Amino acid sequence: MKDPIPPGVFDIIPVDSQDPWKSSYLWAHVERVIREIARDYGFQEIRTPLFERTELFQRSVGKTSDIVSKEMYTFEDKGGRSLSLRPEGTAPVMRAFIEHRLDQIAPVQKLFYIASMFRYERAQAGRYRQHHQFGAEVIGISSPEQDAELIDLLCVLYRRLGLQHLTLFINSIGDTASRQAFRQALKDYLAPHATALSPDSQTRLEVNPLRILDSKDRRDREIVAHAPSILDFLSEEVRGHFEDLKRWLDLLRIPYQVNPLLVRGLDYYNKTVFEVTAGALGAQNSLGGGGRYDGLLSMLGGPDLPCSGFGTGIERIIQTILNQNAPIPSPDHPTLFLIPLGERAKEVAFEMLHTLREKGIPSQMEFGNKKLGKTLHYANQIRATYTLVIGDHELDAQEIELKEMATGHKEKIPLSELVARLNPQKKPTNHV
Ligand code: HAM
Repeated sequence: MKDPIPPGVFDIIPVDSQDPWKSSYLWAHVERVIREIARDYGFQEIRTPLFERTELFQRSVGKTSDIVSKEMYTFEDKGGRSLSLRPEGTAPVMRAFIEHRLDQIAPVQKLFYIASMFRYERAQAGRYRQHHQFGAEVIGISSPEQDAELIDLLCVLYRRLGLQHLTLFINSIGDTASRQAFRQALKDYLAPHATALSPDSQTRLEVNPLRILDSKDRRDREIVAHAPSILDFLSEEVRGHFEDLKRWLDLLRIPYQVNPLLVRGLDYYNKTVFEVTAGALGAQNSLGGGGRYDGLLSMLGGPDLPCSGFGTGIERIIQTILNQNAPIPSPDHPTLFLIPLGERAKEVAFEMLHTLREKGIPSQMEFGNKKLGKTLHYANQIRATYTLVIGDHELDAQEIELKEMATGHKEKIPLSELVARLNPQKKPTNHV
């Protein structure tokens, strides 16, 4: 093809038989479940622009993070501003919160988004340059119950979507003071091993040593296995917060593993961090993750309010649904496919089509005068439940024959009973 799609992005088409996870009916299903759960947990939707000032991400996600230093789609607009396609959703929500003074509207804000994110990563299965996240952010609550509620929401979402065999990892990365002490201890431990670390981690040693802890490189993993644990550096207050979080998770019977190596790749976290992985996803196995980021809002010029949140990738959710053969709805299909023969029948069928749709019965009709065999084949392809061939004979007799496509079963009914027959239980829609 002359202008193929760029690497790392993809189309979502109605039904993709080669790559089923790119089928829009599956996306609609997942988004429907997300919206239901957001409502159940009291979250309201927020939508922010696709791009922001570059500085917003540099200050929040961190200049030395991979996301900001290597992966942002940054450009200058015609006014000379440096803008970036959003690589993640938390910073834009903070910016919008400050801009709209949402704290003056309600003391606690629980916000969610379903949005695309852009990261120039090495494109591979499970890792895309435009991906989609369901994110939830709570502003105004510092207690560990809040972190537990977010983790619970995430786990219930996965359960409602039929996912299994997931692992929840939690950790506490402390407050600024405990992290500083830990950072030094970690650097001291890693210094003698510096040359044995992967090239990436050698660079990180100076700028962001904590990131070495969750490196996927085998050499790094062997070295960090014996590194000091952040959990030994927590202040009493932070340790209590973490213990309470575990207590709340136990109360809800949510299984978890404490992983002191979990630090996550964005700079704004403190105290709680968490991640849910699915073995079936292979190397890109993080299904969702998040944590607490108490200082971020004030650092960006807003009120000093505690915050906590998560993001979960929709591509990876759908891939896991399919990998695990979790139940999925079938793509939408018409209940009835009308096939008129002749001009008189066409008029009647067209009016009937309108009535059926008004009553909320999904219906389609052959407009193109194709041969009957071809039309029936098409009706089969789009999985119409019934077909109805209607011509002068049926109109004269005011009697029609409904054919059930799956079984071939035919049923004669009076034309006037068609709507009632197809939709016995549905009430008519209220028209405004
Ligand atoms: P994150 O861990 O960078 O966190 O991304 C969240 C999720 O998005 C990941 O667990 C993964 O499922 C998905 N994801 C990330 N990058 C890609 C990619 N290139 N391709 C496909 N899926 C991807 C955040 O973005 C934070 N803003 C989450 C958060 C919200 N923390 C607090 N509030």
